[in-house]
Amino acid sequence: MKRVGLLTGGGDAPALNAVIRGAVVRLARDRVATVGILEGWRGMLEKLSRDLAAADVAGTVGEGGTILGSSRTNPYKNPERDLPRIVANYQALGLDALIAVGGDDTLGVAAKLHKDGALQVVGVPKTIDNDLAGTDYTFGFFTAVEIAMRAMDDLVSTAKSHRRVLVVECMGRHAGWITGYAGLAAGADYVLVPEEPIDVEGLCRSLLARRKQGRLYNIVAVAEGAEFGEEHVTQVAEKDEFGHLRLGGIGEMLAKVITKKTGLESRHVVLGHLQRAGAPTAYDRVLGTRYGVFAAEMVLSGQFGKMAALQGNELKAVPLAEATGETKVLSKEFIQLMKLFYA
Ligand code: F6P
Repeated sequence: MKRVGLLTGGGDAPALNAVIRGAVVRLARDRVATVGILEGWRGMLEKLSRDLAAADVAGTVGEGGTILGSSRTNPYKNPERDLPRIVANYQALGLDALIAVGGDDTLGVAAKLHKDGALQVVGVPKTIDNDLAGTDYTFGFFTAVEIAMRAMDDLVSTAKSHRRVLVVECMGRHAGWITGYAGLAAGADYVLVPEEPIDVEGLCRSLLARRKQGRLYNIVAVAEGAEFGEEHVTQVAEKDEFGHLRLGGIGEMLAKVITKKTGLESRHVVLGHLQRAGAPTAYDRVLGTRYGVFAAEMVLSGQFGKMAALQGNELKAVPLAEATGETKVLSKEFIQLMKLFYA
């Protein structure tokens, strides 16, 4: 084992640089070089790379984003054209293995490339949405929760001053992890997640009941992927290369409905990419470092076609095929726990 490629794909997540640093430093310890592939799978298609020595990653553990860049390029959109290019570039770069850091899309590509026997791949689970199966938590998730919780905490003062309902829209296409954890931690009056259809009547009743008890304001947390009338609210009609719609707008829609049905003045805030921005928390820096080092060790011990996964507080290697293609949603128990505080 002499040269290992590493790429980061999909939406960025805080602590990506901690993962990169962990892998580079661990591989260097065994005199294995890391080749940073730029901009996700696009970098493998276009042979965009930079060598990464330990000195190149020094001082990056607390930096947000990814020093390698990212993209949502999908080589399986046009496999006849793109797969041979990826294999040729893998060989041209002299790679013995590739570490792919990404969510369901990026790791789905890695799983297929492994299955097709094209490359030796190891995966690291990344998404602020925490909806990847096989692992308890992805790095970046708790940083996003912290940002969303603080936003909800901060919005209380203005909501209270104006006796308003503040609807806070959080990221989460298929699962309500960020919304649920931040909403619970901030003591939101109501939490709406994709796991359950929105009950508008129940929501309005609950807000009015709170006001009767003397509450002067309300905070409602809603996931961008929560379904309103069995439909997703979207920003644009086009889909990305993996077939995803760009979600957004549910917060605004709900604020209007709440005002109409309850007479309570309502406003909305979309937290959007702020949830992925800025420095990772200490927890995510440590978790990212552990993931990076563990992935490097998986490569060194030849555990290909697998993903580093956090189970309890231990890192384990699980088959990539098990982790991809299935969405990890909030458990019924967690949803019941949330409801204890608003239903
Ligand atoms: O990475 C997942 C995610 O954060 C989703 O929650 C969100 O819908 C999406 O990324 C936004 O992606 P983009 O950066 O392409 O707008």
